Amino acid sequence: MVVRPAEIGRIRTFIPDDLTDITELSNRTLTEYYTPDIIYDIYRAWPESISVYVAGKRIVGFIAGAKYTRTEGRILLLAVEREYRTMGIGSALMEHFFEICRKNSLLSIRLEVKSDNAEAIRFYRRYGFSVTHTMPGYYSDMSDALLMWRML
Ligand code: ACO
Repeated sequence: MVVRPAEIGRIRTFIPDDLTDITELSNRTLTEYYTPDIIYDIYRAWPESISVYVAGKRIVGFIAGAKYTRTEGRILLLAVEREYRTMGIGSALMEHFFEICRKNSLLSIRLEVKSDNAEAIRFYRRYGFSVTHTMPGYYSDMSDALLMWRML
């Protein structure tokens, strides 16, 4: 049976009360360590750039972005709880972020992803991102990042 994200929950804009849940979700699912302050700074810089996916009362995924330049958006963080993956939630969050970027007249999107994160790289390629170059030693463990980019 195909599960559709709309049958699981819904997307809403982040509110500061979500900070603890989002920080914990980040640190369960992403390899870099994030503090609530870091996430709050992302929110303050562009409040509508953080969206959460809520199933019941639980936040099971989120996306956080930024304006990189006047015309370029950037996906900073995207994560879905393991047991909620491959149900379309990551795609729904990304499409939602694309819409916000378009409304803000952004023309392209960039992101950095660990060069050994095959699952995420495949996911981004499927959505039209291509690798522009490698950034050696980008992460705190000195592993490399791939810079990926697409037009909106
Ligand atoms: N039935 C079967 N397969 C499906 C369904 C469905 N109903 N819906 C989607 N899929 C498939 C998609 O086609 C996709 O396939 P692909 O990977 O070959 O492209 C795959 O499932 C994943 O798509 P989604 O379900 O939309 O995405 P998901 O909710 O699993 O989230 C994500 C993807 C965010 C990469 C997730 O794997 C994750 O949280 N990973 C750990 C954190 C991470 O690495 N984040 C990215 C770091 S880089 C950064 O943040 C900039």
